Amino acid sequence: MRLALIGFGHVGRAFARLLVAKRPVFPFRIAGITTARHGAAFDDRGLPQEPEFGPPVESIEQFLDRARAEVVVELTTLNPATGEPAISHIRAAFARKCHVATANKGPIAHAYAALKAEADRAGVCFRFESTVMDGAPVFNMVRNCLPGVVVEGFTGVLNSTSKIAIDAMREGLTMEEGIRRAQQLGVAEADASFDIDGWDSAAKGAALANVLMDAGTTPLEVDRRGIGRLTTDRILDLMRQEKTIALVTRAKRSGGGVRVRVRAEVLPSTDVLASVKGTSNLLLLHTDLMGTVGTVSISPGVEQTAYGVFSDVVDIARSV
Ligand SMILES: NC(=O)c1ccc[n+]([C@@H]2O[C@H](COP(=O)([O-])OP(=O)(O)OC[C@H]3O[C@@H](n4cnc5c(N)ncnc54)[C@H](OP(=O)(O)O)[C@@H]3O)[C@@H](O)[C@H]2O)c1
Repeated sequence: MRLALIGFGHVGRAFARLLVAKRPVFPFRIAGITTARHGAAFDDRGLPQEPEFGPPVESIEQFLDRARAEVVVELTTLNPATGEPAISHIRAAFARKCHVATANKGPIAHAYAALKAEADRAGVCFRFESTVMDGAPVFNMVRNCLPGVVVEGFTGVLNSTSKIAIDAMREGLTMEEGIRRAQQLGVAEADASFDIDGWDSAAKGAALANVLMDAGTTPLEVDRRGIGRLTTDRILDLMRQEKTIALVTRAKRSGGGVRVRVRAEVLPSTDVLASVKGTSNLLLLHTDLMGTVGTVSISPGVEQTAYGVFSDVVDIARSV
């Protein structure tokens, strides 16, 4: 199967390494890669793991026409405010009847319903397993393992920076020191307010609600409050009561719609939602037929994100 990669940063490189490791069983080859500043590379026989980049393409359309891929893998930088230019990249792929796999949550949080409709009209697959849980199965699990199940709501602890900051405050450090720790680990966004003010959690909540609950929402519509006003004294006080705080994303059906909420919640220290630390993630799905089922991912890194993209491409290859 011929792949074209838009973006070749941390995830793109890890994905290329994974393809090489799994090639004996999964014969995928990368026919083209385009980037923002490093130019583009093409090879019909498949690019090597460390390709040499030539001049940039003039447009994404020109890139896709030259790469002639069956699957386009969109791995560009997240734009949390609009989801662009990834949304346009995905549209250009659908217009050429290419399947798409992406790790970029922007398009799912901002334009899922429209993009899914375009994919269906084009008769192609649209996959995005790595957008919320760094590759741990969520969307593919519901699609492949929970037929007929209605997701009535979900509860998740999905933002790493807030967890690292709260853990640091439990050690007596300040919020700023906790944020710096997350930045040193390469987990926090350059503008950490995206994490601390709950925007990352809102984007993940919107993406989950759009796909699993047909919510038709965006991060801007999420009822969001972050942990910006939390102090070390408050955390230490809660610790004395054997409690803690986590930035929790919840969704539930209400009236005709779906309500998504992000809040710093006070929890008993033994609560399952309080048990995930650092980059670990936890998501519980509340369903009609399966009760509450969940996914947990312990300390995932870029290799797991790349695996989620790989699992999407395998899922596409099996579907066509
Ligand atoms: N890192 C993770 O563990 C992780 C986890 C879950 C989801 N994600 C998502 O996965 C995506 C990729 O993450 P990453 O860590 O690989 O990011 P990254 O290291 O910053 O790489 C982004 C890549 O996109 C390219 N790019 C940016 N704008 C472009 C454009 N308009 N056209 C073509 N290429 C463009 C960049 O080109 P240059 O190289 O020329 O700058 C770079 O190669 C993001 O949406 C991120 O939110 C990442």
